[in-house]
Amino acid sequence: MADNIGILDARSEARQAPVGVFDSGVGGLSVLGEIRRCLPIESLLYVADSGHVPYGEKSPAYIFQRCCRITDFLLEHGIKALVLACNTATAAAVAPLRARYPDLPIVGMEPAVKPAAAATRNGRVGVLATTGTLNSAKFAALLDRFASDVQVITQPCPGLVERIEAGQLADPQTRELLHGFVQPLLDQGCDTLILGCTHYPFLKPLLRELLPADIQLIDTAPAVARQLQRLLQARGLLASGPAHDCRFWSSASVEQLAQVLPLLWGSNAPVNYFSN
Ligand code: DGL
Repeated sequence: MADNIGILDARSEARQAPVGVFDSGVGGLSVLGEIRRCLPIESLLYVADSGHVPYGEKSPAYIFQRCCRITDFLLEHGIKALVLACNTATAAAVAPLRARYPDLPIVGMEPAVKPAAAATRNGRVGVLATTGTLNSAKFAALLDRFASDVQVITQPCPGLVERIEAGQLADPQTRELLHGFVQPLLDQGCDTLILGCTHYPFLKPLLRELLPADIQLIDTAPAVARQLQRLLQARGLLASGPAHDCRFWSSASVEQLAQVLPLLWGSNAPVNYFSN
């Protein structure tokens, strides 16, 4: 009887454990928001690796090393599952990461090529993403698998992530930079654009101003949140309440993250320094 109670306590403790989420910086907050909407009572721990942003210009080996440091840190804080809220880190490191942590449920993300191929009306899809994602073998495999019937035009966006990290979502410089990235896709007739980096959904209001009204924007974050929900459910790990809390860390300036949180997360929250 006492043993059974011990097992029940351990199960309930595992269910109440937090989910770890990280990105190279603040971009993953767009995914964290969807996770909170989909799973409002889960406790969430978020690491913005802004001291090492942008991942899009770094080597896969460097990104893997960052992923391991952050995963070890989150495991020390007792996470029950991990979300790589970063297309670039997923492309570079999700396979070796799963091999290194075989007992940890890991959800990665990739540009939404399959939904975009289904959504396009004229067969032309543009992908806005980092250089690292677009150059990866994982992205090439994704195109082979889901884009044989459509034309996919890729557009790397160097410099854009840094604007979003600084909370510059609508100033003239960001507008000009973004315009320079989307115009070639419009010129080539794309009617559907994939936001293939988790930072870019924060530019949706600006994109809506720059794009004709009939251009469709496709973002993977809601699907990632649903995938996390399925995975937790399948393992009996869904939290049962009370209401969630969210904790934040940054490997760069904690003041900077605290300053952009109201804009990107919708409320203030204390930010801790992640020194690894
Ligand atoms: N937010 C990240 C992504 O989804 C990467 C941004 C970067 O650090 O280059 O790809």
